[in-house]
Amino acid sequence: MKKFTNTSFKKYKEDGQKITMLTAYDYFSASFVEKANIDTILVGDSLGMVIMGYEDTTKVTMEDMIHHVKCVRRGAPNTFVVADMPFLSYNVDMKESLKNAGRLIKEAGADAVKLEGGSRSIDTIREILKLQIPVIAHIGLTPQSVNMLGGFKVQGKLERDIVELIADAKALEKVGVSAIVLECIPPDVAKHISESISIPTIGIGAGVDCDGQVLVYHDLLGITTDFKPKFVKRYHDLSSEIVKTLETFSAEVKNNVFPDYSHSFSDSKVKF
Ligand code: KIV
Repeated sequence: MKKFTNTSFKKYKEDGQKITMLTAYDYFSASFVEKANIDTILVGDSLGMVIMGYEDTTKVTMEDMIHHVKCVRRGAPNTFVVADMPFLSYNVDMKESLKNAGRLIKEAGADAVKLEGGSRSIDTIREILKLQIPVIAHIGLTPQSVNMLGGFKVQGKLERDIVELIADAKALEKVGVSAIVLECIPPDVAKHISESISIPTIGIGAGVDCDGQVLVYHDLLGITTDFKPKFVKRYHDLSSEIVKTLETFSAEVKNNVFPDYSHSFSDSKVKF
């Protein structure tokens, strides 16, 4: 199978081929995603919630991201890896933004970085692109804005917000991003945006007409249980299976079923 690269985003759109993206945060999840031939891995700052147990993504640091991107790169050496730039690692100071984008590529091993925001992030995105670092943009519900938005809510319902989303998508296309993640916006708005630009849209809660789809690994497998957004399809109920398996281990130890002789080494020849 031909390797997915930065130029594949546009090619897939031109060929009408959907793009798959899944998050991964560690060695084994990344290796499973690669084995399943998913086109791209996103090391999302959602790791703040599904790995670190925070309520939102705002506390994730550059060091957290670098650590997890390194693990993912080792697990999926042949997959296109996108790394999220965490909250306040960009758009505060241009030099710092560029340094941070560079670290995710050079030190951690990502192939591209993802930044939230349309017009508010355009200047930073332009400068990152000048460094020859591919950028994926993210508009609609931008989770790092949770405190401004008053929660994780569907965006793009009012006409003025829709006009802004469309203008943002066109500006991002013009500046040269490789793809745009559209999160939690009405499907007709996502369809209109997808048809108005030449680069692919990757939807999450943005309907069927995006050029690709992204989900969080733990949501898709049913590892997360406390909250299920409408847009998530759980393909498996892994959390129940994990708990059942751990209960079996516990019962077997307590009832002297595990370990048996097949799990033990040979006796020593010492006489006691
Ligand atoms: O952090 C993340 O996992 C994301 C996806 C939800 C798109 O940004």
